[in-house]
Amino acid sequence: MNFMEKEKPIGVFDSGIGGLTVVKRVASTLPKENIIYFGDTARVPYGSKSNSTVIEYGLQDARFLINKNVKAIVVACNTVSSVALKEIRNNFNVPVIGVIEPGAKKAARETKNGRIGVIGTRATVSNRAYSSEIKKINSGLEVFEKECPLFVPLAEEGWISHKATFEIAEEYLKELRELKIDTLVLGCTHYPILADVIQQVIGSDVKLIDSGVASAEVVYNELDRIGLHTNKNSLGSQEFYVSDIPTKFKEVAELFLGREIQSVQKVDLELLSV
Ligand code: DGL
Repeated sequence: MNFMEKEKPIGVFDSGIGGLTVVKRVASTLPKENIIYFGDTARVPYGSKSNSTVIEYGLQDARFLINKNVKAIVVACNTVSSVALKEIRNNFNVPVIGVIEPGAKKAARETKNGRIGVIGTRATVSNRAYSSEIKKINSGLEVFEKECPLFVPLAEEGWISHKATFEIAEEYLKELRELKIDTLVLGCTHYPILADVIQQVIGSDVKLIDSGVASAEVVYNELDRIGLHTNKNSLGSQEFYVSDIPTKFKEVAELFLGREIQSVQKVDLELLSV
């Protein structure tokens, strides 16, 4: 394998800053790799948009990373992973890793009673992406999906232990609790931020699956398979690009990433759509 290929960065993209939870996981699993992140903060949320818009945006986001010369693309956004993965794979000649399949596999492995819950955006849930992946692995497993759209703004507000977050979580999750699931997939980039609340409300006996963690392992294995791990022995660098820099950006982004962000660059939306 060409030496230069190995030293290219891994590209990660999301509809906004939520995908930084996935960057955190990829960086801890592959600490020596350089990472380029793109968050489409000007057009977030994707979870309430039509499939055709999500596909169009997903292709543009992926192209941005391809133009940055990445060796692989991680589609951190569950919504894009459920709707547009095939189109992205068909259009670009690098490995494209989505978060649905890894999360589904992990859930199927972990469940003991065969009853799995999935929470996500409206788009992810209405496309039944997790259900169909889980059923492909084992058609006998039962999957119950629930859209939890308000979790996204709550996470972005940093309301990680607010009374309102508990109340909304109770409203969203009571049905899944009654269905006696033993495994719950956090099928949205933002939900790991609310994991403590979700765990308390759903019950300590339910195993939470963070799709970001599962996907980072798949990225590692994929680079192994194609012989594209970096040769360098130092810590990798990280570059962050967004299509808008909203108020409170730094504070919220650092909550998702779990550490300080030194600099972030703004990309013109017009450049994305060419
Ligand atoms: N990144 C999205 C996801 O994981 C959540 C935010 C949005 O709706 O765009 O589905």
